[in-house]
Amino acid sequence: MDLYRDNILDHFRNPRNYGTLAGSATRVSQNNPSCGDSITINIDLSQKGKIRAVSFTGTGCAVSMASASMLTEFIKGKTSTEVLALQKEDVERLLGLKLTLARIKCALLPLETIHQALHK
Ligand code: FES
Repeated sequence: MDLYRDNILDHFRNPRNYGTLAGSATRVSQNNPSCGDSITINIDLSQKGKIRAVSFTGTGCAVSMASASMLTEFIKGKTSTEVLALQKEDVERLLGLKLTLARIKCALLPLETIHQALHK
């Protein structure tokens, strides 16, 4: 049994933080040009620059959706500076995968969208 794979499939089938956010949340959408999949991230920052709430919607493969689900869980309560410092290796650690070239764009789409939202 492959625990990492099971974990990815669990997040894909039961995504955490899936949905929109009410109020004045920042919303940013991006797509993966190679497949057309897209993701929208909603982020609500506190006055001190902490992630108060974050959610996502979108369609994509198991890796992109699991990455979004895990990342939204992981960044809640962190500062935007901490989140902007996250890189490919952090996503690999969360997913438990060494990303192949074919999967990098899928796995990093949510992180890139989160970073874009924080730069708004
Ligand atoms: Fe589209 Fe992975 S195949 S995001």
